[in-house]
Amino acid sequence: MTSMTASRAADLVAALLFVLSLAGLSQHRTSRAGVVYGIAGMALALVATVVVSAQSVSAGPIALILLATVIGAALGLWRARRVEMTQMPELIAVLHSFVGLAAVLVGWNSYLEVEAHGSRGRIAADLTGIHHAEVFIGVFIGAVTFTGSVVAYLKLSARIKSRPLMLPGKNALNLGALAAFVVLTVWFTVSPSLPLMVTVTVLALALGWHLVASIGGGDMPVVVSMLNSYSGWAAAAAGFLLDNNLLIVTGALVGSSGAYLSYIMCQAMNRSFLSVIAGGFGIEAPPGGDQEQGEHREIRAHEAAELLARARSVVITPGYGMAVAQAQHPVAELTRRLRERGIEVRFGVHPVAGRLPGHMNVLLAEARVPYDIVLEMDEINDDFADTSVVLVIGANDTVNPSATEDPASPIAGMPVLRVWEAEQVVVFKRSMASGYAGVQNPLFFRENSSMLFGDARRSVEGILQALGPEAGPGPAAPAQGVTAGR
Ligand code: TAP
Repeated sequence: MTSMTASRAADLVAALLFVLSLAGLSQHRTSRAGVVYGIAGMALALVATVVVSAQSVSAGPIALILLATVIGAALGLWRARRVEMTQMPELIAVLHSFVGLAAVLVGWNSYLEVEAHGSRGRIAADLTGIHHAEVFIGVFIGAVTFTGSVVAYLKLSARIKSRPLMLPGKNALNLGALAAFVVLTVWFTVSPSLPLMVTVTVLALALGWHLVASIGGGDMPVVVSMLNSYSGWAAAAAGFLLDNNLLIVTGALVGSSGAYLSYIMCQAMNRSFLSVIAGGFGIEAPPGGDQEQGEHREIRAHEAAELLARARSVVITPGYGMAVAQAQHPVAELTRRLRERGIEVRFGVHPVAGRLPGHMNVLLAEARVPYDIVLEMDEINDDFADTSVVLVIGANDTVNPSATEDPASPIAGMPVLRVWEAEQVVVFKRSMASGYAGVQNPLFFRENSSMLFGDARRSVEGILQALGPEAGPGPAAPAQGVTAGR
């Protein structure tokens, strides 16, 4: 078998392993196997690349490839071991930016190489126009992905404000940039030149920045999965330029699965898929979103325990704050204790609660909360009206009534958990601060809501203490009613 045939066989097996990996990752039960398939596919692809390169280049470049692989693997391992679950979307955004940057560099390299030395017979004369178009499109997608991902990283890590940037005529700017790209591509295909390469790079860098900067905080999950898709298409474009079939296949898998995930998330968030791709569905800037809107009431842990002890049914809606406080274990213990007392306890999980898809499900599974009492938003939303107590543990945007009641709200139209329909709502958080989208939450000022201030883990532990160690007659401390606060 020639080295080329062996390399094609390795590409095929690696591509199949990536398909198996995606299939495995689509379900909890098979997700570990999915990760293993992905690692195996990538290891095989790396080995095949090095072995094939070794046939045609000298030892120096091979040593450089190996050195880059070792440095990259060490950095990847170091980051992956240190990253907190809540920082995952930021890390993913950074990784997407690397893919975008790599596609830009590959495109520039391919352009400069062909300009300087010709195609050395690798490109048939009648296909040079196609090569030029590949270079141009690859650089464009890569540059949009690069700056878009950098802005996403800055927003997700709170290094810049998550409020949408509202430049006048932003839709016209985006459409104008796309139209200019089409015209420039035709021009470059017919007559390639350095100024056109510089122009498309600058245009795409600016467009990527503007597309993501124009999108409001609450919509960032969709943006992250959209950038995931873009990074796949950028990798596929680089694959065409490097004549690497596996990169084309892998890029297409990431691009299409990312696009499908964006589509599913748009449906869950009630957003238009097309307007996401066009960039900037954060239609209006929030009107000073985080002022308080009246009086709130405070409750203490032992008073919340009282409420719970009297409850018939309880729904817990966890959010990002539960992840920050790492409160899932005491929450699981509270669930067990309440169920021992014959109280029905269920969880209502919003599709974008936390900071990554499935974030709450992972935490609850880790704390061994039974799967059958963890329900999706659509499964639980009609039951709130018949619920005695809702515990909102570190959630904010995902339980904000203004999404359904205030058409001017920046999160208007986003489906939310209708917790306010329950008899009593206890909100666990540390202050009156707004959530990720930067919008104040009228839930906190409703008649049937009480705020339990403090770190969510400590608050739940306080309730557990007040409830006493085992199933018993009721909480240890006497009820004192709720306290008014501002
Ligand atoms: P958020 O709206 O982010 O609110 C979380 C709340 O937790 C905050 O109001 C904060 O209030 C509280 N909190 C933080 N640390 C806490 C602690 N140690 N103890 C108690 N409370 C604490 O949460 P959510 O309802 O889960 O909504 C998620 C938001 O993130 C949505 O806007 C969503 O679009 C966005 N997002 C989601 C994803 C995905 S894919 N899930 C990705 C990116 C962005 P205090 O500071 O007052 O404590």
